[in-house]
Amino acid sequence: MPSTWLITGTSSGLGLELTRQLLARGDRVIALQRRPERLDRLLLDHPDALWVHDVDVTDGLRVRSAVDGAWRDRGRVDVVVANAGFGLFGALEELDDDDIRRQVETNVMGSLALIRAAVPHLREQGGGKIVQISSMAGQMAAPGMSLYHLTKWANEGLVEALREELAPFGIETCIVEPGSARTEFGGSSMTVARSLPAYDDTPAAAVRGRRERSRESIPGDAGRMAGAVIDATGHSPMPRRLLLGSDAYALVTASVRARLAEAEAQEAIARSTDADDYDPTAPH
Ligand SMILES: NC(=O)c1ccc[n+]([C@@H]2O[C@H](COP(=O)([O-])OP(=O)(O)OC[C@H]3O[C@@H](n4cnc5c(N)ncnc54)[C@H](OP(=O)(O)O)[C@@H]3O)[C@@H](O)[C@H]2O)c1
Repeated sequence: MPSTWLITGTSSGLGLELTRQLLARGDRVIALQRRPERLDRLLLDHPDALWVHDVDVTDGLRVRSAVDGAWRDRGRVDVVVANAGFGLFGALEELDDDDIRRQVETNVMGSLALIRAAVPHLREQGGGKIVQISSMAGQMAAPGMSLYHLTKWANEGLVEALREELAPFGIETCIVEPGSARTEFGGSSMTVARSLPAYDDTPAAAVRGRRERSRESIPGDAGRMAGAVIDATGHSPMPRRLLLGSDAYALVTASVRARLAEAEAQEAIARSTDADDYDPTAPH
């Protein structure tokens, strides 16, 4: 039985790879993207299984009407993928206000709009799956990437909470955490801030050359990553998180270990601030 998917940001990279692979295996895709012409070739090959809509995810009303239209026209959507996003790089001081707004509106508000619009439909149809494309940047942090981290940690907090909130309705969630991948993310999708000389010899300056990374230095194969996402949605429940890429595995496990060690080192001080009559068994 073919599934119906609704995916944002399908004009390139992971979204495009997901769309290609899903159509090839007989699934149906409702693609929301800013450059619909990018799927013209796929539309010719799959006129009855692909529907392309011109949607900028920063336009919340447009997202809601596209999602409502998807259910109205197709009757059912099985998997919703919040994929659209881009990277803003530079030290916090170097960033432009408009770029900051665009980063948050795309990566955070765009996902939020999609998920909020989809949840009532998923609930009413008795369940479904939400996949949030986050990043390894959603579980660790590095200098020069504060705004990108802000958005990906926001994605993670939202979907982590929704996992338990939506489980009673049969709605499952999965947070996908790719490492660096061979997509347009490092090219047209990357905004690099102007350079302030004060940061020239600081760790934040490392992001300035990101566009010049050689292909061979980027581990993630977009096709394999998309395949792993599709495989994960075949499980019930889906994994809470899906790490993709050896860089993601190394950096996230190191970050989680370090944060756990730091948290455990705080036990005595944490307990020392409890009130004397605190009773952990008292009713909430
Ligand atoms: N590649 C990596 O290294 C990497 C690593 C970790 C996580 N990720 C995440 O993976 C996701 C997909 O990125 P990718 O690697 O596949 O890069 P990509 O090839 O640049 O694809 C990004 C997609 O998002 C779309 N998009 C951006 N802003 C949008 C907006 N306002 N409205 C609608 N669509 C919008 C782009 O559309 P346009 O063609 O119109 O620009 C494009 O289709 C992103 O959320 C990214 O943060 C990527």
